[in-house]
Formats: sequence, structure tokens, C-alpha cells
Amino acid sequence: MSFYQVSLMSFSYPKSNNIFNEVSFKLDKNERIGFFGPNGSGKTTMAKLMMGILKPTGGEILLEGKPVSKMGLARIGQRVGYVFQNPSKQLFAPTVWEQVAFGLSMGKEGALEGCKPDERVNYWLDFFELSDASWQFPHYLSRGQKQRLVLAQVLARGADFFFMDEPTVGIDRLRLKKLDQCLEAVKDSGRGYIIISHDMDFLRRHTERLIFFAGDGTVREL
Ligand SMILES: Nc1ncnc2c1ncn2[C@@H]1O[C@H](COP(=O)(O)OP(=O)(O)OP(=O)(O)O)[C@@H](O)[C@H]1O
Ligand SMILES: [Mg+2]
Repeated sequence: MSFYQVSLMSFSYPKSNNIFNEVSFKLDKNERIGFFGPNGSGKTTMAKLMMGILKPTGGEILLEGKPVSKMGLARIGQRVGYVFQNPSKQLFAPTVWEQVAFGLSMGKEGALEGCKPDERVNYWLDFFELSDASWQFPHYLSRGQKQRLVLAQVLARGADFFFMDEPTVGIDRLRLKKLDQCLEAVKDSGRGYIIISHDMDFLRRHTERLIFFAGDGTVREL
């Protein structure tokens, strides 16, 4: 069974033309995939469909064999994380530490096995080099740090697959290097992800499979 299976999936926003026409693809949990294609071709829409934020108008999307549209956002969120293009929109806690700790107790069963919640928070803060910022107000962090903070939160909660939307936009070269190192570490941990990006160099570095969004309702492997 595939981790994700998109089957003959169609989608349109209300009162608009079809964004997707019977699109199909599959992926496994440890795959590292790029979504690539022109502006407005539906990359972000596809991520929202796969996260259950939007519902297909035809066909279906299965996550570990179950229709995403019937799963409920909280349950999907325990399996799959999403780092928005603007990660500030996902930050709400008074401190970096609490941002990662939030919702930990409702993580996937076994996620905390052999590891107390606070150890887990510390582990992921350390993993993404945010320990020194533990007591800072999340909104004061740089964009690159905010990205890593949301990733820390997602992975601490027990998700082992995530989406990142345009992660290289608006970060400088130094932070890009840090993001490179973090994605390498994520790869070494055996986790998979989908990166949505227009930056082909970045996709070449961090993904091994590219899905092209043509903008005419179809997608295909590149
Ligand atoms: N909430 C919405 N309501 C109606 N149409 C929308 C909505 N969000 C996006 N669209 C339209 O759906 C199409 C796909 O948009 P989407 O944002 O998924 O593309 P994208 O590939 O992520 O583009 P970009 O590379 O610019 O981020 C576009 O034509 C867009 O205008
Ligand atoms: Mg987009």
C-alpha cells in the first residue's frame, strides 16, 4: 500500500474551471519529491488537497489507504505536516519552546515512547539549532528560523512526512545553507517530504523525483 495515492482526482474552486482533471500518482513515505510548474498551475492547491484542507470534487486521495476527505484534519496532522510559504501564520505560542511542545500529548501513539515530552521538545529544538532561542518570542525569529521551528513542531508531534511550500523564497544565502543542512539531516532520519518550489537547483539538491504541474489540469513525472 502506498503512503499517498491520488486516484483520478479532480478539483475546481467554486465558480472556476477545473484545476485538476482526473490526476493520478502515488508516493511512499520515505520519498523526497518536488512539485514544480508555472504560477497558478495548482501546486499549493494540491498540497491543501493532500492535507485535507480542500476536498476533491471527483476521484479520491488516500492516505495509508484511507480517504483523506473522511479523516479529519487533526488526524491527518499527526501523520503529515505542512510548512506554509509564510511560516509566521503558523506561530501562536509565547515562546519557541512552547510552540514545539504544543499538542505533543495528542501526537501519534508511540511517538513519545521512551522519551518524555520535554525531552522530545529539546531533541527537535537541538536538531534544528534552535535551542539558544528556546525562550524567545517566535515572531521575533528570522524567516529561516521560523521555518525550522514549524518543522521542529511537525516532527516532534510524530509526523514522518511533510510539505514545504516555497521554502527558499525570502531567505538569504546563509539561511539557505542552514536549510540545506536541515533537509540533509531530515533525509538521514529516513523521513520523506514534498517541496513546492520554482528553484530548480534547490529541488535537484533535495529531491529525487519531480512532479510537473502543467497548468492545464494535468500533472506528470519529469
Ligand atoms: N481560494 C481560491 N479560490 C479560487 N481560486 C483560487 C483560490 N486559490 C487559488 N486559486 C486559483 O487556483 C489556481 C491554482 O492556484 P495555486 O495557488 O494552487 O497555484 P500554484 O501552482 O501554487 O502557484 P504559485 O507558483 O504562484 O504559488 C490559480 O488559478 C489560482 O488563481
Ligand atoms: Mg503556490
